Amino acid sequence: MTSSTLAAPSAGGRRRRVASALIVLVALGLLTLLYSVLAPRGTAASSSDPDVIAGRQLFSKYSCASCHGLNGEGGQRAPSLIGVGEASVDFQVGTGRMPLQHHSAQAPRKQPVMTEAEIHQVAKYIASLGPGGPPIPDVTGYQDADVAYGGSLFRTNCAQCHNFVGAGGELTYGKYAPSLAEATPTQIYEAMVTGPENMPVFGDKTITPDEKLAIIKYVKSIRAQADPGGAGLGRIGPVSETLAGILVGLGGCVIASLWIGTRS
Ligand code: HEC
Ligand code: HEC
Repeated sequence: MTSSTLAAPSAGGRRRRVASALIVLVALGLLTLLYSVLAPRGTAASSSDPDVIAGRQLFSKYSCASCHGLNGEGGQRAPSLIGVGEASVDFQVGTGRMPLQHHSAQAPRKQPVMTEAEIHQVAKYIASLGPGGPPIPDVTGYQDADVAYGGSLFRTNCAQCHNFVGAGGELTYGKYAPSLAEATPTQIYEAMVTGPENMPVFGDKTITPDEKLAIIKYVKSIRAQADPGGAGLGRIGPVSETLAGILVGLGGCVIASLWIGTRS
């Protein structure tokens, strides 16, 4: 008796069970839909973006994955790239530092192995791995920035490592601040916002975007300056320049006194 009621439930019960299964299905469907709409996505790039797909392939082709992990999650040989942002990738690959070839105290600047278009695709792929990290900066208009202001910002914030004329200098433990002679305006901006190696990050509160453009204008102007002739001072620093200043100044005094002498 009891077993037959268990084995054959009433038609009403079956219908109720089908109905509740349907409700669960509909609810699950709604949740999935809601998730796909609301889920955090890092950046605008999604995995159906052709650049992201191409970037992912380049990431293995150029052996980035062998050090940084198949999905950029990091490993024993290299840090995680999740959340580093596009600017860091553009700087590291654009200056030829990445892909790293052999371990030294610091990844050196080299000829880049990827084209600019490829670098942008890898940057998009890495940015799609997680939110955070600065985008590739826009440096248009830096030519119109105030070069004197840029110079004073450079002397306060950068010269202690890169030298007054951006020639670079030694740091501790075999590390060094490189010469700034080869960096492009975009790379200078990227270095400031990503802080590679021992370089600090200069966020927008420390140095505003306009001030960054002024610094770029200054760095580019030291490069554009031709030596004024003769043997040149080699721009090696304040000592030789002061000496030259004294000589020129003294010479001027001598000429002035001779001139005054001939008139009286
Ligand atoms: C031989 C191992 C190796 C390979 C190959 C390599 N990397 Fe790296 N990568 C490193 C190490 C180590 C660091 C950290 C040291 C440094 O910043 O100089 C690093 C740092 C970086 C950073 C900076 C991360 C940050 O915190 O801002 C980026 C971006 C990066 N790599 C991208 C790449 C890309 C893209 C490739 C492929 C084109 C690549 N790497 C290939 C070892 C490697
Ligand atoms: C504490 C020392 C330090 C200070 C201060 C510093 N830097 Fe750097 N900078 C470095 C180091 C170290 C590197 C090399 C990082 C690497 O190779 O990964 C570097 C790299 C760079 C590069 C890349 C050069 C290239 O050709 O690849 C640029 C551009 C740069 N710095 C600009 C600046 C500017 C502009 C400032 C001031 C706002 C500044 N740095 C302040 C230490 C410093």
